[in-house]
Amino acid sequence: MGLERVANIALEILQNTQSKEAISLYKELECGKMLRSKLVLSIVENESAYRLCAIIELIQSASLLHDDVIDESLLRRGKTSINAKFGNKTAIMLGDILYSNAFFELSKFDSQIAQSLSQSVSLLSIGELEDVSLEQSFNNNEQKYLDMITHKSASLIAASAECAAILATHENHRDYYKYGLYLGMAFQIIDDILDITQKSENLGKPALSDFCSGKTTLPYIYLYHELDNDKKAWLKSLFKKNLNTDDFEHLHSLLLENPIKKAKQKALFYGNFALQIAQKVKNKKLESIINTMIERDF
Ligand code: FPP
Ligand code: MG
Repeated sequence: MGLERVANIALEILQNTQSKEAISLYKELECGKMLRSKLVLSIVENESAYRLCAIIELIQSASLLHDDVIDESLLRRGKTSINAKFGNKTAIMLGDILYSNAFFELSKFDSQIAQSLSQSVSLLSIGELEDVSLEQSFNNNEQKYLDMITHKSASLIAASAECAAILATHENHRDYYKYGLYLGMAFQIIDDILDITQKSENLGKPALSDFCSGKTTLPYIYLYHELDNDKKAWLKSLFKKNLNTDDFEHLHSLLLENPIKKAKQKALFYGNFALQIAQKVKNKKLESIINTMIERDF
């Protein structure tokens, strides 16, 4: 798969800015898993597809630069974040440069592709807004959480799959959109589970850090609903706090029982939906993306 080609095109696009500063800051970014590019290239692989992938990766990097400012994150992909190293102003502006140059390139594509992708960036930003608002207090509402991750995590993945299908002239491109949406939901829920089940060495951050930083993810919502009133108050009192060893151990063991099991079932529910669509559109590569994700130890 031409992931290296994608990375080179992204750099070429940025070189159009002729800004040494922007280019050298961009080179500081750690390359991620390129999940969205893998998805696109599983649907269509040609020169336009590589360009589309580069655009999507630039948008993804821009959103993470902004997200790290919003979340005040010091690390990204195991490396010091741009905001931590160069300050918030630099991180925001680099995000804007990546984003606007990606859109300049996107305007050269068919309008259906440009519209699908730009709509997803609006949804992504709406999702981030919802996330910020949910972080204000302990959230026990599952639907609000699912709506937020649909926007923040799944919308760009869904649009990536749809745009690839449009590029491949598949008339059923909405099926691909739905595939991406369910894949994105399952992916985010698994990510939330890993924050609880994995050791800090593997996570590159302390376990349970989502809850400490204000993210009431699905396992916490499920746990809340199975506790009595006293324990509910205890759980809410830990929200956004640095946990002492006793609270950490107790919370961890409660989460590892039923809540994690229920969250895994939810991830599998969305994963199976995506699998059914991959089978319907007869794309074995899309099936294998889901199976690899589901079979992963989470
Ligand atoms: C990570 O969430 C953040 C996102 C998936 C999307 C963030 C989107 C924006 C900031 C809007 C971007 C707008 C433009 C114009 C590009 P997380 O904090 O749950 O995950 P993390 O652990 O990887 O930080
Ligand atoms: Mg974040």
